[in-house]
Amino acid sequence: MMSERSNVLNPLLVLILVPAVFCTVQPPTFNPEMLTPMRTIGDCQACRVFIESFKEGLERTSRGKYEGGDAAWEEEKLKKSYKRSEIRLVDIQEGLCKTSKFSFQCHSMAEKAEEFIEEWWAQDPDESTDLYAYICIDNLKVCCPEHHYGKECTPCPGDHSKPCNGNGKCRGDGTRKGNGTCSCDAGYEGQFCDKCAVEYYLSYKDENKMLCSPCHVSCLGGCRQGTQKDCVACKTGFSFDTDEGCLDINECDDVDRCTRDQFCLNSIGSFKCADCDRACSGCYGDGPDSCRKCAKGYSKKGEFCIEDREDEDQSEKLTTTRYLTYIGLIIATGILLPKSTPLGSIVGAMVLIYIVGAEYYCMINGHTGLVNLKDFNLIQIFHT
Ligand SMILES: *[C@@H]1O[C@H](CO)[C@@H](O)[C@H](O)[C@H]1NC(C)=O
Repeated sequence: MMSERSNVLNPLLVLILVPAVFCTVQPPTFNPEMLTPMRTIGDCQACRVFIESFKEGLERTSRGKYEGGDAAWEEEKLKKSYKRSEIRLVDIQEGLCKTSKFSFQCHSMAEKAEEFIEEWWAQDPDESTDLYAYICIDNLKVCCPEHHYGKECTPCPGDHSKPCNGNGKCRGDGTRKGNGTCSCDAGYEGQFCDKCAVEYYLSYKDENKMLCSPCHVSCLGGCRQGTQKDCVACKTGFSFDTDEGCLDINECDDVDRCTRDQFCLNSIGSFKCADCDRACSGCYGDGPDSCRKCAKGYSKKGEFCIEDREDEDQSEKLTTTRYLTYIGLIIATGILLPKSTPLGSIVGAMVLIYIVGAEYYCMINGHTGLVNLKDFNLIQIFHT
């Protein structure tokens, strides 16, 4: 008995379960780091990430563990012993690098740092010890102090507090990498970033600071100040005027600049040819209201070129068909009515409802009905 029932049920169960299974299957999850090229960070930054994570762990475990200890003094004692305990260190290490984007690099740094961390922990250090300097600079030797670079942590060249004149970075600053040369910010160049780059001019200078600002967009090869009058020369797309400096050339003044089915758009220093609207055959701007002439199949209605509508004839054909249907129905009612009055009246009523309904439908959809409401001027009716 049981087996028979389950035989019947099995296909049913399959029918129910199969879609259920398909619907609950999780889409495969991708590690986003697999899809986007993995961003790598240098050893010094990895060490920095690790130290941040370790400090978070210190913070997280700073309130101690409150398990057991009925009396307040007992709890206090437990808290004190936990503070520098192996247990707390393990608690911290368990949570390390979990929330970091660079958890892989962080973990490998944590492994390298483990012995030094344990040393530091065993020394019962003052919480204020700079853990970053202790681990990353002094022991792991992956970082350098600020404004120092390279294997030996050489000081960056130039003014120590402001390498590269404050307008760039000394390559490898703070790490054991780089060669200490300046990598200048945009607008600056020179060995110590103390010159303005081409297309920039010196806009401010005192003993401490120099500022370079970009030349006017129309300038080519430098300038004295920031306006179009200060250019050394003009870029292409600009013409030189003795009073006004570099002026934009309106390329669109040339009527033959673009092809016949395009219009011209001037921009500062350049121009663009854009296609006319498809309603146009030649145009002086965008859209069907800017045509010189209408394209084939379109005709002018006011400002616009509008597509010639073929469906107007079709709509007329449909209207004729509709009226013919009405006539057919009325004739059928006329034949039925004398034969059987009750049936005839019912059919007559239905035909009437059908016609009224169909006309109403046509009217609200804007087709021409028997009564075209738009032609009906109600105000006029009341006035006469
Ligand atoms: C220093 O390094 C940069 C880029 O890493 C390189 O372009 C430059 O030539 C190097 N300079 C010297 C003096 O080695």
